[in-house]
Amino acid sequence: MRNLQVSHQAPLKSSLIYPQPLVSGSDTMSTTSKKKKTTSKKDESLVAEEDILMAAVDDEAPEVSIEDLPGVGPATAEKLREAGFDELLALAVMSPGDLADQAELGEAVAGKIINAAKKMANIGGFVSGVALLDRRREVQKLSSKVQSIDDLLGGGFETQALVEVYGAFGSGKTQIGHQLAVNCTMSVEDGGFDGDVFYIDTEDTFRPERITQMARGHGLDPDAVLKRIHVARAYNPAHQMLLAEEIKRMSKGLNVKMIIVDSLTSHFRAEYIGRGMLANRQQKLNRHLKDLKQLADVNNALVLVTNQVHSKPDAMWGDPTKPIGGHVLAHASTFRLYLRKAKGGRRIARLVDSPNLPDGECVYQVTQEGLRD
Ligand code: GTP
Ligand code: MG
Repeated sequence: MRNLQVSHQAPLKSSLIYPQPLVSGSDTMSTTSKKKKTTSKKDESLVAEEDILMAAVDDEAPEVSIEDLPGVGPATAEKLREAGFDELLALAVMSPGDLADQAELGEAVAGKIINAAKKMANIGGFVSGVALLDRRREVQKLSSKVQSIDDLLGGGFETQALVEVYGAFGSGKTQIGHQLAVNCTMSVEDGGFDGDVFYIDTEDTFRPERITQMARGHGLDPDAVLKRIHVARAYNPAHQMLLAEEIKRMSKGLNVKMIIVDSLTSHFRAEYIGRGMLANRQQKLNRHLKDLKQLADVNNALVLVTNQVHSKPDAMWGDPTKPIGGHVLAHASTFRLYLRKAKGGRRIARLVDSPNLPDGECVYQVTQEGLRD
């Protein structure tokens, strides 16, 4: 429960729109106690290992929580939750040493918990190509309303994908975030998703005034657009991760079609300094990206994250800059767009990594009304 307090303590600016949780605290309490009752019916000592395995593969099986793990009593469960482990899958992927450290448990106990979680977690499985094709058919494309960018992306920004936009400061990353947030609220016929946007702002650069300008630029009612963009400031990496987790809960009753994290990496970079912290930073970033990707899959939504570059002075040719975040981010991104400034106030976007499109570049402009060809 400690985690939840963070979000309430964090001083969210009154100018920012932050939706009230649509599920009240008492509602969540009643669902957890219901869960408890179903598990207490079982005589845990009789649950053979085989049954546990069966439960893991049975789609109809009730969702298991960390309290259902053999050997995890209320005290251990609380320690695990305090350390941020509230799902079996999160435990299943840990190493005993790390879990022991983070949850303040003995290493042997941690090892047993991990093994049990591996057996009981819904790790997923293989699906047929046909099923995947069905899922791909649901993919929608958000128009940037800039022909050259849409062409570069084969029609627009895809749902079920994580798009990384990176570039130097002032290259226009935040402008893309604002523009796509506006476009996301447009009707499907107009190239939008008729959807709600969650915007995690880590650098205090979200500007409702800019949304207003861009909404007017497309003949939209600025207030109606702003109502559908839900913004939260993140104060550090832990808070940022928590906000992403909270989206699941806060999105009930909304048509969430886009999640923006601007910037994904700045807090991580500032908090985890030096080589010694690198492994820890990458592990946290990985977890955060998984949560974001899950939101994209579950909601058939688009996730857009921004990222800075750092200079690579030893580069012999080409652009001596590269995105930060390392392999973790490179692997998590479905598409990577590299932005840079060109002469005469123009911008160049380069598609760097894509599973099904050729690499390429396009030119566009940032104007007062927004992005234009
Ligand atoms: P960092 O977050 O600092 O790394 O930069 P960024 O890549 O997010 O840059 P951002 O998207 O904030 O781009 C800022 C640039 O957009 C400015 O330098 C302007 O060139 C341009 N810009 C922003 N607002 C306007 C506007 O109203 N009119 C015009 N013409 N350009 C604008
Ligand atoms: Mg920015």
